[in-house]
Amino acid sequence: MPTIIERLQAEHGRLGRPVQLLNSERSLPTDPGSPNIALLVDTLNYLTRFPDVAHHAIEDRITEKLRGKNALSGEFAREIEAQHVTLISQGHELLQGLEAAAREENMSQERVEIHVRLYAERLRHNMTVEELTLFPAAVRYLDELLAGHRACRCGWTTVSSVRGHGR
Ligand SMILES: [Fe+2]
Repeated sequence: MPTIIERLQAEHGRLGRPVQLLNSERSLPTDPGSPNIALLVDTLNYLTRFPDVAHHAIEDRITEKLRGKNALSGEFAREIEAQHVTLISQGHELLQGLEAAAREENMSQERVEIHVRLYAERLRHNMTVEELTLFPAAVRYLDELLAGHRACRCGWTTVSSVRGHGR
């Protein structure tokens, strides 16, 4: 059974592929007449909604827990939480902008493309920060907790199930 951190890491892998694609494409199909506009909308729906609903909320809870235990610096915790707030609000704006562009209102195709790329870059950066700070801190904290329980020969079952070793 994968640990929660392994699951979050695997989700980064799945989110990273479309993010990389959005960043590497020379031009994005933001034109309402483009045959690939539906694919772009589906990709952005996935990138903006899945992390907001299922991914960032778990990371926020882990961040809060680690900060409360002094296992993650306040600086990194604040940065990760602020990134999530920005990603949520910009994700909503991005989808609204894309819908407006599809109706050929308000926002130009060029501006939509810039916003899509900025969103993808912000999500990529957020995942990198978490992989460098949050995930190692969580693994370290759980390892120390596990070592402490081993040393006092208590609670092996409880801690090992958190780490994913309990069957
Ligand atoms: Fe994440």
